[in-house]
Amino acid sequence: MNKKLLVKTWGCQMNEYDSSKIIDLLNVSNNYELTERPDEADVLLLNTCSIREKAQEKLFHQLGRWKKLKNNKQGLIIGVGGCVATQEGENIRKRSPFVDIIFGPQTLHRLPKMIEESMNNKIPIIDISFPKIEKFDSLPAPRTKNATAFVSIIEGCSKYCSYCIVPYTRGEEVSRPIDNIIFEINQLSEQGVREINLLGQNVNAYRGLTHSGKICSFAELLRLVASIRGIERIRFTTSHPIEFTDDIIAVYEDTPKIASFLHLPVQSGSDKILTMMKRSHTVIEYKSIIRKLREVRPNIQISSDFIVGFPGESDKDFEDTMKLIKDINFDMSFSFIFSPRPGTPASTYPCDIPEQVKKNRLYKLQKTINNQAINYSNRMLNTKQRVLVEGLSKKSSDYLCARTENNRVVTFKGSLDLIGQFIDVKITDILSHSLQGKLINQ
Ligand code: SAH
Ligand code: SF4
Ligand code: F3S
Repeated sequence: MNKKLLVKTWGCQMNEYDSSKIIDLLNVSNNYELTERPDEADVLLLNTCSIREKAQEKLFHQLGRWKKLKNNKQGLIIGVGGCVATQEGENIRKRSPFVDIIFGPQTLHRLPKMIEESMNNKIPIIDISFPKIEKFDSLPAPRTKNATAFVSIIEGCSKYCSYCIVPYTRGEEVSRPIDNIIFEINQLSEQGVREINLLGQNVNAYRGLTHSGKICSFAELLRLVASIRGIERIRFTTSHPIEFTDDIIAVYEDTPKIASFLHLPVQSGSDKILTMMKRSHTVIEYKSIIRKLREVRPNIQISSDFIVGFPGESDKDFEDTMKLIKDINFDMSFSFIFSPRPGTPASTYPCDIPEQVKKNRLYKLQKTINNQAINYSNRMLNTKQRVLVEGLSKKSSDYLCARTENNRVVTFKGSLDLIGQFIDVKITDILSHSLQGKLINQ
C-alpha cells in the first residue's frame, strides 16, 4: 500500500508553489498518495511563514495537535519547512522534540532522502541551507490540469527592507536560468495552461543566464514568455519599485499579453517612513512609474501592500499614505500592522504608537481602498470582459467561474468545455466579492 502524505501550507504564493512542488516530488519519486486526514497520514509536513508573528504562532498550535497523533502511530514522520524553519532551525526541536525533519525553502528537493533517512535511522534531520539553484534541477516536470500556473523565476531577496524577515529566511536573490524557465512554460502550455504567473519576491530583479552565458533581464524574459505558443496572458508577483525600469514599461506598450493589472507594493506614502523602511525610493519616484505606465496603458489597475504603525509613523505620515492611496486610486490591496521580526533592524526601533491608533489607521486605510475597489468593479457593469474560465463555480454546478484581467471572479452559465479557455462575457451584476456575467456568443 502506498504511503500517505499531508502538506499544510501558510504564507505567500511562493510557499504555495513550493508545497505544490513538494507534493509532485514525493508523488513521483516515492509514490506518496495525498490525504486530507492527518490521522491516516504517514508523513505530515508543514510549510510555514514568518512574515508576521501570528504566522509563526500558528506553527506551534498545529504541532501541538499533531503531537497527539504521533503518540498513537509509531513511525509517523513530522516535518517543518518554510520560513519559520529557517528562522528558528534547531529551536523548533527544542520546543517540539517530536519533530523529525526541519527543511528550508531552498532544500525542499532533498525531502525524499531526508524522509528515508529519518525513517531508517530514527534521528532528527535539519537542513536549512541555501544551496544555489540546485532546487530547480532536482524537481520533477510540472503537471497540471489548470488553465493558469505559477512559475518561480527568482528565489530569495537581497533588498533587506528594515522590517522584513525574508532575506534571512530565503537567502539572497538567485535567478533561475532562462532556458530552464522557458522549458517549464512550454511544458505547461502543452498541458493546456493559458495564463502564467511569474513568481519571486522581486521578479524585476531577474538576471538569468542564457545557455550562451549572456544575462537576460526581466523585460527580455517577459517578451520571451509572450512568444510561447498557447500562453495568452502573463502576470507577475511581486515586483519592486526600484527596479521597475523603462524597458519593463516598454513591454507593457507593445505586448498586450501582459495583464493590465499590476501589484506594485509601496508600503507607505511618506518619504520619511520609506527611508526608515529602507525601500530605496521616494513617493515621487513611485508616482512617476505609475504615470509612465498609465501613459502606455491608460486603464491599468494598480494594487499594493501597506504597513501601518511603522515605528515613528506620525499622523501626518499616515495622512500622506492616505493621500497617495487616493492619488494613485489603488485597487484591492493588502495591508498590515507593523510586526517586529526577530533580527531585523526595525524590530529595535522605538515605537510609541498606541495599539488603538494603529488599528484605527488600518481600518481607515482598508475602508478607503475597499471603496476604491468597489468603484472599479461598479464601472465594469454592462462591459465586455475577456475572461479565463477556471472551473465550476462553487455555488452551483450550472455555473462556471472565470477571472477577468483585473483579477475579479465572474460566475456565468456555460458548458464544461469552456473550462481552460479565454472567452468574452458581459458583466450583468456586481456582488460584494464577485461579479456575475453572461456569455457573449462569438
Ligand atoms: N517582496 C515584496 C513583498 C514581500 S512580503 C515587496 O517587497 O513588496 C509581503 C508583504 O508583507 C510586504 O509587502 C509587507 O507589506 C508585509 N510585511 C513584510 N514584513 C512585515 C512586517 N514586519 N510587519 C508587517 N508587515 C510586513
Ligand atoms: Fe521583504 Fe523588502 Fe525583500 Fe520585499 S523587497 S521581500 S519587503 S526585504
Ligand atoms: Fe512568509 Fe516566507 Fe513567503 S516569510 S510571506 S512564506 S517568503
